[in-house]
Amino acid sequence: MLDTADVLTADDPLYEELYDVRREAEAVGNLIDVAAVMPQVHALRAQAPVHKGRLRELLGLPPHERHSRAAGRPHWTVLSYDACEAAFRDPAIFSNSVQGHDNPAGEKTMGILEMDPPVHRAYRRTIQPKFNMPEAMGWWREHTIDTIIARLIARMAAGERADLNLDYCARIPVYTITTAIGLDGDEALRFRHAYLNSTSSSRTVTMQQRLENAKIVESTVLGLIARRREEPRDDLVSFLLGMKLQVPGEPVRPLTDREILAHAKLVMVAGGGTSWRQMGIALFALLTHREQLDAVRDDRALIDDAIEESLRWNPTAPYFYRMVMQDVAFRGHDIPEGAVLELGLGPANHDPSRWERPDAYDLFRPKLTNMAFGLGTHRCLGMNVARVEINRGINALLDHFPKLRLAPDAPAPFMTGGLEQQGVSGLPVLLR
Ligand code: HEM
Repeated sequence: MLDTADVLTADDPLYEELYDVRREAEAVGNLIDVAAVMPQVHALRAQAPVHKGRLRELLGLPPHERHSRAAGRPHWTVLSYDACEAAFRDPAIFSNSVQGHDNPAGEKTMGILEMDPPVHRAYRRTIQPKFNMPEAMGWWREHTIDTIIARLIARMAAGERADLNLDYCARIPVYTITTAIGLDGDEALRFRHAYLNSTSSSRTVTMQQRLENAKIVESTVLGLIARRREEPRDDLVSFLLGMKLQVPGEPVRPLTDREILAHAKLVMVAGGGTSWRQMGIALFALLTHREQLDAVRDDRALIDDAIEESLRWNPTAPYFYRMVMQDVAFRGHDIPEGAVLELGLGPANHDPSRWERPDAYDLFRPKLTNMAFGLGTHRCLGMNVARVEINRGINALLDHFPKLRLAPDAPAPFMTGGLEQQGVSGLPVLLR
């Protein structure tokens, strides 16, 4: 059988095509001038923490519909930390149901992400234990993360320069998730292609191809579930097969194959693009703030602070949505049932009432919780895994390439993407 790490790190033009933040936004149709947004957000927040209307309208940007269930509904936009926190922590009124897609089978297409308590809690409990910090630092790190990082470092060490976006950041989450789920060898390769193409918004992949690839992803995971039912191994699918679901008022039972598939698909979708883009943002922050990079190189205990500050400074997914479940008076607005709230995590992370000099990247600033992973009920399931991926990734780069720096003869990187997903334009570096 082929070695999974070799298979997943091999040269493949698909990476170049799919892991380009600007191209991704162009394909979705939501490319914006990212740098122009925050000054406008500050001006709006100074007037009021909550505004009637979509942020796109308030900013004068062309329309873009992220969630089909939000179409045609009145919107309100939330820009302060305090008001975002209040909405995140009240799931009975501000529901996640807006994030799913209607489908004939009535399945939750986005799994736990579109569920509300108490059902959400019951399902989340079946997967949460595999994502706690001890598991991220232990099982995930040993089982997947360190293996892929060692391979990628060895691959880059053969040359003088690299694009860390493509050669490094893009590849770590794909391998981590594919291997964690339980796929290996050439099946992992087929799966990776299908997975990248099914989640891709690349113009070269038609909707028909995307659906066909989504079918391959489904049948591969369902096949894996069937094999692990016969013979469990040390992977996420085997773990989920052993868990019991306890929905209030219903008998305790194991998860069905479709429920395990839904968990696996959400983990793949939620954990792929986010970790890739956020690792790029963290490296971008350090490479463009040399004195902070030097400090981190000399004292690796600072890496976690550097990562948290990158999450505060530029969270890759700066807006999430909620459906309003009953008429509510919220921060001076009477908001009707059926409206949609746009919660500005990015704006909340730059709220000057919480952070001094909010637009500056400063890993030494006082430590306060930021909103990059959300808050409350749906706080990111994979945040510990993401933190370990980024921490191990930066540590290994500093160990092997102490002179790492941006390539002066290449275009300077900048933040790009859409309002809803942002990352760095590229990370061309000199390794020696
Ligand atoms: C730095 C990278 C990441 C960022 C910035 C991020 C951000 C977020 C945010 C803001 C939410 C909350 C959504 C909401 O409230 O509606 C969320 C939820 C979620 N994330 Fe992440 N995420 C990251 C990485 C990951 C990874 C690596 C995984 C899995 C391996 C993952 C899996 C999930 C899942 C399953 C949920 C849904 C949780 C629930 O509904 O209870 N994420 N993420």
